[in-house]
Amino acid sequence: MPNAVTIAGTGSYLPEKVMTNDDLSKIVDTNDEWIFSRTGIRERRIAAEGEFTSHLATKAAEKALEQSGIPAEEIDLIIVATITPDTLTPATACYVQENLGASKAVAFDISAACSGFLYAMKIAKRMIETGAFENALIIGAEKLSAFVNWNDRTTCVLFGDGAGAAVLRKSEEGEGHILATDIGTDGRQTHLLNIPGGGSACPTTIENAAEGLAALSMLGKEVFKHAVTRMKNSANEVIARAGLKPEEIALVIPHQANVRIIDAIAARLDVPNDRIFVNLHKYGNTSAAAIAIALDEANRTGKIKPGDKIIMVAFGAGLTWAAAAIEW
Ligand code: ACO
Repeated sequence: MPNAVTIAGTGSYLPEKVMTNDDLSKIVDTNDEWIFSRTGIRERRIAAEGEFTSHLATKAAEKALEQSGIPAEEIDLIIVATITPDTLTPATACYVQENLGASKAVAFDISAACSGFLYAMKIAKRMIETGAFENALIIGAEKLSAFVNWNDRTTCVLFGDGAGAAVLRKSEEGEGHILATDIGTDGRQTHLLNIPGGGSACPTTIENAAEGLAALSMLGKEVFKHAVTRMKNSANEVIARAGLKPEEIALVIPHQANVRIIDAIAARLDVPNDRIFVNLHKYGNTSAAAIAIALDEANRTGKIKPGDKIIMVAFGAGLTWAAAAIEW
């Protein structure tokens, strides 16, 4: 029998600086009414100049470790999900390992955009199930403010910075555990959402530097349609695999990209709105960090209790999607 895997602790960190929709209207031609009615976002956090993705990740991880009661030295796997790494190499997870003093841990990054935290959860779960690793730290962390084009009103209003983390370990008798996970990819849709520059396909050069190609580019309407279908299907997949009925679900934590997408998914899953977790009005879309931050907020504010069945579901560039069903 594979080991059952539980979440022993969660943590999150949001940078101090708040940028409101009104602040944005001083930078680009936009306004609070447009942003809030189209997305549900009121404000987002922006990391300080010297504050990198690894710093946000480390602060979230410290809180998750503290809650889990597992010291950093006993973590043997660190996965950071991010599309905004400190450096292309080494992995952001290596900086986090050093910051935490988790010297025994194997540390690497994964790139699955907004689905990254749940991809990391699936990888870590499998590793613990097989006995390859005992204690895993999974982190979703993003400094998206460093990768948005601040002249493009169609994207810069959507994103924010932050990090969330969870510690996974073998579940003991009577504890909750991860019931089911699902991950998927459709590489035919890479053109819908990407950062075209800064990689080997289009390195930043003196000639193209001013074009700002190392910034998020998105065909929002197309992404919207895929997001609803893929998240609905992925959530239903884990609900079926976990043998849950809609009325048994205490909380759904969807990716925090757009409240209209969240409403559309809630309607399709047949779960009432008061059981759908939403915090994107405060933080915007923090990509891989969004679900991790929301999970920590739900945990620490008592929205989830031992024995509750919860669903997390995400969608992002790739296109990627992922879901998890958990007994808390
Ligand atoms: N302020 C004012 N007007 C704006 C703004 C703005 N910030 N941005 C666009 N507009 C204008 C457009 O120019 C357009 O004007 P036009 O009609 O004169 O041409 C009009 O508003 C409508 O624009 P649309 O793009 O059609 O607006 P839409 O209703 O589709 O909303 C949005 C755009 C919010 C981006 C939506 O499509 C969306 O949320 N898409 C999904 C994004 C998502 O889920 N991403 C998840 C993954 S993110 C990741 O993986 C990193």
